[in-house]
Formats: sequence, C-alpha cells, structure tokens
Amino acid sequence: MAATKEGKCKRILVTGGSGLVGKAIERVVTDGEGRPDEEWIFVASKDADLTNAADTKALFEKHKPTHVIHLAAMVGGLFRNMKYNLDFWRKNVHINDNVLHSAYENGVQKVVSCLSTCIFPDKTTYPIDETMIHNGPPHNSNFGYSYAKRMIDVQNRAYFQQHGCRYTAVIPTNVFGPHDNFNIDDGHVLPGLIHKVYLAKQNGTALTIWGTGNPRRQFIYSLDLARLFIWVLREYNEVDPIILSVGEEDEVSIKDAAEAIVEAMDFKGKLLFDSTKSDGQFKKTASNSKLRKYLPDFKFTPFKQAVQETCSWFNMNYASARK
Ligand SMILES: NC(=O)c1ccc[n+]([C@@H]2O[C@H](COP(=O)([O-])OP(=O)(O)OC[C@H]3O[C@@H](n4cnc5c(N)ncnc54)[C@H](OP(=O)(O)O)[C@@H]3O)[C@@H](O)[C@H]2O)c1
Repeated sequence: MAATKEGKCKRILVTGGSGLVGKAIERVVTDGEGRPDEEWIFVASKDADLTNAADTKALFEKHKPTHVIHLAAMVGGLFRNMKYNLDFWRKNVHINDNVLHSAYENGVQKVVSCLSTCIFPDKTTYPIDETMIHNGPPHNSNFGYSYAKRMIDVQNRAYFQQHGCRYTAVIPTNVFGPHDNFNIDDGHVLPGLIHKVYLAKQNGTALTIWGTGNPRRQFIYSLDLARLFIWVLREYNEVDPIILSVGEEDEVSIKDAAEAIVEAMDFKGKLLFDSTKSDGQFKKTASNSKLRKYLPDFKFTPFKQAVQETCSWFNMNYASARK
C-alpha cells in the first residue's frame, strides 16, 4: 500500500466526528489506541454537509481517505423520531448514499457504517440477531430512520456483489456517554434522564420519568463502543453486519436506569412515572454471540460506573453540553 505524504499507510476519515460516538472514538485513539501508521481525521457538518453530494465529494477529494468510519446521521430519541419520520428517512438516505458512493469513487478500502438495534422488526423473536434485520416492518415510531438505516446493509451487499468492496456495518444498542445530546425533548432516554435529574435537583422538584419505566434496553458505554469500532475497522472482514452490545443478561429497565442516575447524581427527591407518555418498543433484546465468538474476553465497563462517569462529565460540562 502506498504511504500518505506523512508516511502513514491508513488515512481514516470519521464522519459524525463531533457527536457522541465520534468524540468517544477520538478520545480512545488519542488515549493510546491509535497506531503510528494511522492518520485519523474527524469531521463534522461544518466541514461538509453530507446530505449534499458535491460537498461530500469535495470532502473525500480533500482528505483522500483509505478507510472510513461513517457515523454522521440525523439521530434522535423516540419523541423526535415520531414527529419527523420523513426528515429522518430523506436526510439519512442522502447522507448514506453520498458517503458510500464517494468512498467507492475514491477507492476507499473499507467503510464501517453504523446501524442500530432499533431498526429491527417490531414483531420478532428474541434475542434479535444480525440475520433478522429485514424480516418485517420496524416499530411505527421510527420507520423513517429504520428503513434508511436498513438500506445501508442493502447498499453494502450491492457494493460487494458488483464491485467487491468490503463495506460493512455495526449494530450498536442504545449508546450513552460524554458529549451525548442531553436535550430532554429530542434526545435519547438516558441523557434526557440525566438532564432531568440535574434540573430536579437544582429546583428541588420531583423527577418525572416519561412512560411506565417498564421497557427494557441494553445500554452500551460510548467508550466501549469506540474500542469495538476500532477493532471492526482493523480486524472484522465480513460484509454482513455485527451487533455490538452488552449481553442479554445486562439488559435493564428504564426504571433501573433512572435509579442508577439518581444514585450517581445523589438526587434525594421523588420519582414519578407519567404513563400518558409513549413507552416506545417494549424491548429489543439483542444477542451479542457473534461478537463473543470473535472477542470472548472483551470487558465492558460496568453500567453503574459508566453512568457515574457520564453524570460527572455532564455536571462538569453543563454550560457547554448539548441540551
Ligand atoms: N446514540 C445512540 O444511542 C445510537 C444507537 C445506535 C446507533 N447510533 C448511530 O451512531 C451514529 C452516531 O450517533 P451519535 O449518537 O454519535 O449521534 P450525534 O451525537 O447526534 O452526532 C451526529 C453526528 O452526525 C453529524 N451530522 C449530522 N448531520 C450531518 C450532515 N448533514 N452532514 C455532516 N454531518 C452531519 C453531526 O455533526 P454536527 O455536530 O456538526 O451537527 C454529528 O457529528 C449514528 O449513525 C447513529 O445512527 C446511535
């Protein structure tokens, strides 16, 4: 392989580099996971609007990546998804097609894109595994996002079939960590709850949890996901996607997650449940047995420790955090 002008063989472009997952990868790379033959380039929407084909093409021509981690997406929690299914579909389809096709046109050797366990069929058997993505319609709350994400898998297979490209995707469960979107209305459940607990503590009010608290989720700490992403980029050679998740036994209810946050934030007020608000999908338990076959010894950060670290980050960065 020809070295780049700095003598580095791999030039890795990370789209969505300013987001929750992108920032985690940047931290893990900076903290020692990066290798001397790798140059890492993290880009955000200010560098290129990836819904725009010409901007995307220019970005690829500027950086000439050999590898791509593709994270950029319109992302949001249940309530934002329910309101904007059309925008989630259109923006994400445009972003994904622009990125994958620019990668192909520029001879990129490997692309790792990001799906999500919330794109799986609503009516399914559990645990969900990688073979089930296209087995039925997704939950109605987020069909725009889900179908757009599913098309990445279709496109990866087609690039492989027609051009032999090794483009693949990972499927994380619910991600959380520093640099998340802590917006209460538009964000995901865990960062939204952290922000709510922060405000309830400040204002001396009760904590109101939307929904019954009964739905169950597998949460993955962004820094664990970052280490797994880097492994996929370097070592995983299948075109078929791989679920990146803690085990089925580590699934927790929203109520359990809220209690972990309450403990981490030392909140002493009351917990209320507003069951007039939607619960979303009850569960989406995913199997990590494919991951475990490859990496039997990978150690996930314990949930309570990861929640504690995320809450500390939020408390320390309240003024600048996305909220
Ligand atoms: N968060 C989760 O629980 C979760 C779970 C499963 C899968 N995922 C997937 O993981 C990936 C990363 O998610 P995240 O949680 O890190 O999201 P995030 O924090 O909301 O970050 C989104 C990133 O995408 C960029 N972006 C959005 N629209 C763009 C556009 N038009 N052009 C260029 N860049 C654009 C943003 O750039 P700016 O900062 O400049 O706006 C930001 O860097 C996504 O593909 C998501 O679907 C997330």
